[in-house]
Amino acid sequence: MLGLRTFARVAAEIRCDVRAAQERDPAARDVGSGEILAVWPGVHAVLAHRVAHALFEARVPLLPRLIAGVSRQLTGIEIHPAARIGRALFIDHGMGVVIGETAEIGDDVTLYQGVTLGGTGFATGKRHPTVQDNVTIGSGAKLLGAITIGHGTKIGANSVVIHDVPPNSTVVGNPGHPVRVDGRKPEGPDADWAHLPDPISDAIKGLASRIGALERALAELGVDPATIAAAAPQDEPAPLPRATGRSSAGG
Ligand SMILES: CC(C)(COP(=O)(O)OP(=O)(O)OC[C@H]1O[C@@H](n2cnc3c(N)ncnc32)[C@H](O)[C@@H]1OP(=O)(O)O)[C@@H](O)C(=O)NCCC(=O)NCCS
Repeated sequence: MLGLRTFARVAAEIRCDVRAAQERDPAARDVGSGEILAVWPGVHAVLAHRVAHALFEARVPLLPRLIAGVSRQLTGIEIHPAARIGRALFIDHGMGVVIGETAEIGDDVTLYQGVTLGGTGFATGKRHPTVQDNVTIGSGAKLLGAITIGHGTKIGANSVVIHDVPPNSTVVGNPGHPVRVDGRKPEGPDADWAHLPDPISDAIKGLASRIGALERALAELGVDPATIAAAAPQDEPAPLPRATGRSSAGG
């Protein structure tokens, strides 16, 4: 049940959250705790979640979801009351952040706007990410499924992460892949994700260079390539097939 000890714990967590904003938001360096509590939406959302989660754990009906809903209306940050959040979470800017029901977040984590800790479909049970301590997740990053993000990791803005990430990594791209682990580039034949071959682009470049060579040969024979292009059949693009079956969207 709710007791004095719960309130003392929630108050201590809130003090930590305000200090996290002062330490990790360059715009908050010289701002007092009162002003941060009054104005920072990320702090409001975490504060509301601390209360909603304590009520949820105490099995109070309805109220935790009401608090989460009002907080979402005010801040644009949606945190399920059941989500487990450690000390000193800082959500910078905030708008568009979604933290799902079975997500777990360790201590000293920083999230920017537009981060999703979501599920991949309609699975039940543990289906949201576990984010260990000291992780930073860049704006717009999507972390999907019951994956684990190792401590000290940085997730680049707009990454889409669907696999576990080792500790102390830097992960970027879609699909998200480590470009640094413990400060070093990962080694191995599949390690250079940033410069993967692009077969479609290579094929288009090959065709373009052959067309160029043909046009030059035609020009030498006195034929204007524009007359051949005008005579070629102009096909309409084929319509896209209509999607059928159940949508895989879900959170
Ligand atoms: C990923 C990030 C944390 C940088 O981490 P880092 O460990 O210092 O990594 P580096 O800057 O050395 O970049 C490592 C590689 O990833 C690439 N990279 C960095 N961020 C990237 C991103 N978001 N998407 C794709 N590639 C990215 C770099 O170009 C570099 O490539 P290279 O190895 O070919 O040179 C940072 O780029 C980032 O995305 N931060 C999010 C910040 C944010 O959301 N701010 C919002 C403020 S409102």
